[in-house]
Amino acid sequence: MLVLRRLLPFGCLVLAACEAIPEDSVFVQDRYQGHYAPDCPSWVTSPVSGRPYCSSPSKGYDTSPAYAAAKPVANDTAFDGFDAKSPEDKKALLIAQGEKVYTNNCAACHQVDGKGSGTSFPPLMADPVVNGGPVAEQIQTVLHGLSGKVINGVPYTGAMTPFSNLTDNQIAAVITYERNSWGNDGGVVEPAQVKAGR
Ligand code: HEC
Repeated sequence: MLVLRRLLPFGCLVLAACEAIPEDSVFVQDRYQGHYAPDCPSWVTSPVSGRPYCSSPSKGYDTSPAYAAAKPVANDTAFDGFDAKSPEDKKALLIAQGEKVYTNNCAACHQVDGKGSGTSFPPLMADPVVNGGPVAEQIQTVLHGLSGKVINGVPYTGAMTPFSNLTDNQIAAVITYERNSWGNDGGVVEPAQVKAGR
């Protein structure tokens, strides 16, 4: 069956060709998740690309050491005592934690530099919502995902997945990070605003 799969025109024709794909390639997720997902017993997320990657050595598409490396993960205990902090300290904490949330959850599509990817994924740099637009709309997009919206005249072919699994702290952090990165000037969003938007 495995041999047959390699010969059939879904996925890679030659498995070696799959393994030659660099780990930060946009094709990793498509090839491995799209075509081999039923075969993969466990997934890891690349700290390089943020994309899922099969971790099973038995199937011949092993994970490289880079995939197993620890990712920067947002730490909710960092938000202990948040309400008592000064506005400056709140903002600094949200941005620092938000960068980690972004790297792990958003950069795969919107890219580390916030410039997006073609007509698949929109830039968040200078985006009408992110750069000082309505906070409530950004909260709803992160909670529930988004598709079919034309942004700056571009109908994006990709769809954004919902991120309601993230905590209020993490969502407030990533939104604040986006609203203060890449030249955006969009202010601070606090966890209580995310809680109210759920
Ligand atoms: C799977 C790819 C993907 C991921 C991952 C992703 N997005 Fe998106 N995002 C999109 C697409 C596609 C759109 C545009 C959808 C549309 O035009 O209807 C979008 C739109 C947005 C918008 C709306 C911009 C506007 O003008 O309305 C925001 C804000 C946003 N994303 C933030 C995030 C955040 C924060 C994360 C991480 C928690 C994230 N995205 C992760 C694909 C993604």
